[in-house]
Amino acid sequence: MKNIVVLISGRGSNFVAIAEAARSQNWEAEGLKLACVLSNRPGVAGLERAREFGVPTAVVDHKDYQTREAFEEAMIEVIDRYEPAVIVLAGFMRVLTSRFVDHYAGKIINIHPALLPLFKGLDTHQRALDAGVRIHGCTVHFVSSELDGGSIIGQAVVPVLPGDDAHTLADRGLKVEHMLYPRAVRAVASGRVRLEAGRTQMDKDTALELVVLSSQA
Ligand code: GRF
Repeated sequence: MKNIVVLISGRGSNFVAIAEAARSQNWEAEGLKLACVLSNRPGVAGLERAREFGVPTAVVDHKDYQTREAFEEAMIEVIDRYEPAVIVLAGFMRVLTSRFVDHYAGKIINIHPALLPLFKGLDTHQRALDAGVRIHGCTVHFVSSELDGGSIIGQAVVPVLPGDDAHTLADRGLKVEHMLYPRAVRAVASGRVRLEAGRTQMDKDTALELVVLSSQA
């Protein structure tokens, strides 16, 4: 089995999208298993969602550790038990050091709510509105030690519409996150998408699957 470990900090809607895809597409028959959901915050809704799907949960509370390094060591101890094929950041809100990233080289992926390399960091929807762009969306990428800077795996695009505010734009973007992220997780976990010398490699069919163009309002 190729284990998938999901790191969260909050509501876990992307985890739910992944878990629903795993169930309806029977990922276990392909040798892919949602092995654990790890949260750095106790009591968040995403942990409850994981239990509903029967996925084991763990909490490593960053507040219990004096340094980022000690916090990450504790996470590594939990994660390594599963020998994961992929580590999925799904609304995980802690910056990771290069020590952690290097430990899982080429195995950590993240979803960012903007079309990278535009709008790295926080408040992406408001910044997109302020910039006056007509399209927005999300990006799945390999995690490198540069924040939101790793090689891109897939992207989903939505229109920016008249009257949008940061909330309506975020809601529209989240819908396509839920379409894109399960496809990307499956492709990376199965080895169809790989990081080689810092660049994402995949075949044409996979590349087409990992671009979502949505005109839904
Ligand atoms: C998503 O918008 C994702 O792009 C960002 O954090 C949010 C997580 O939402 N990285 P959820 O916890 O998956 O609902």
